[in-house]
Amino acid sequence: MKVAILGGGSWGSALSMLVSRNGHHVKLWTNEASVCENINTTHLNPYYTGEYPFSETVTATLELKEALSFGECIIMAVPSNAFRSVLMDVFDSLEDKDIPFLNAGKGLEAATGLRETQIIKAVAGEEFASRAVILSGPNLAMEFVAGKPGCTVLAGTDTERTQFFQKLLSSDILRAYTTDDVIGVEAGGSLKNILAIACGISAGMGFGDNTRAAIQTRGLREITRLGTFLGGRRETFYGLSGMGDMITTSSSILSRNFRFGMLLADGKTPEEAGKKLGQVAEGVPTCYAAMLLSEKYGIDMPITKEIYKILKEGKDPRAAVTDLMNREQKAE
Ligand SMILES: NC(=O)c1ccc[n+]([C@@H]2O[C@H](COP(=O)([O-])OP(=O)(O)OC[C@H]3O[C@@H](n4cnc5c(N)ncnc54)[C@H](O)[C@@H]3O)[C@@H](O)[C@H]2O)c1
Repeated sequence: MKVAILGGGSWGSALSMLVSRNGHHVKLWTNEASVCENINTTHLNPYYTGEYPFSETVTATLELKEALSFGECIIMAVPSNAFRSVLMDVFDSLEDKDIPFLNAGKGLEAATGLRETQIIKAVAGEEFASRAVILSGPNLAMEFVAGKPGCTVLAGTDTERTQFFQKLLSSDILRAYTTDDVIGVEAGGSLKNILAIACGISAGMGFGDNTRAAIQTRGLREITRLGTFLGGRRETFYGLSGMGDMITTSSSILSRNFRFGMLLADGKTPEEAGKKLGQVAEGVPTCYAAMLLSEKYGIDMPITKEIYKILKEGKDPRAAVTDLMNREQKAE
């Protein structure tokens, strides 16, 4: 099978390696000339995936149309702030509008609070969106790149398409489960990045395991509150794409959102922390989106609110912790 993978960052690269290991040919589209040249000449993507080589069946291109005409299916792995504009270009250039399409990105649109399948619907229409499949789970790109096994979830309302991508991706390194709860998977996979920032702040301030467990548990409760209001199923938030992903990203130094939180605790502004990280921290736009939704629908999200104040209003993380601890006493 020939696969077009869109996005030459960590996740697009890791997925290219996973797919090519299964015997498929990949055309990776990137907007970075150095990434394209490195993959095509040295089979490496040093900035994103270090010394781990790509197979010779992975080639890169700077031309979106070339990748699209190559692929018998499409996997998209671009940051949420570029998702809408890239998708518009993809849909405009696509000859076969019925091609199997998988979105492996995570995040809510900051300005609108929309999930990515809602953006797919707005850009490409109901029919295309209803056949799109979503991938989300406890999946740190660099662990797969290093050959360490993990599980993921593929969500779609079109069972045939969902199983198509399950077959394409499954291997001894990646075990993929399916579900039809697209909203639950997208909401959990996006919102948990806010908790990863909170846990990074906590670790950076020198707090311990009690604090992290408190943020994870109470945090999961509040993202489940919003996610189920939006239409996701409660049990999804306690599965791989919810609790599973939350545990990984809020405890691992490999998680950018966690590292971003540590930088905030160190006194960096969000802009300075973003620059130092050099890669996307999806929890930031998702936190803005979650705040928008929680205010619109009256959903109580105390941890999200404090992270929002740290990010947007420059609140001192120490004051945020004090305010969280001194909230009105209540039953669990
Ligand atoms: N890194 C991970 O471990 C991981 C795991 C699962 C999901 N994800 C998700 O995958 C998505 C991509 O993340 P990533 O880790 O690969 O990011 P990254 O920062 O490693 O790379 C981002 C890539 O997107 C490209 N890009 C940025 N703006 C673009 C634009 N306008 N047009 C085309 N390309 C553009 C950049 O050139 C870069 O190649 C995110 O939504 C992220 O949450 C990441």
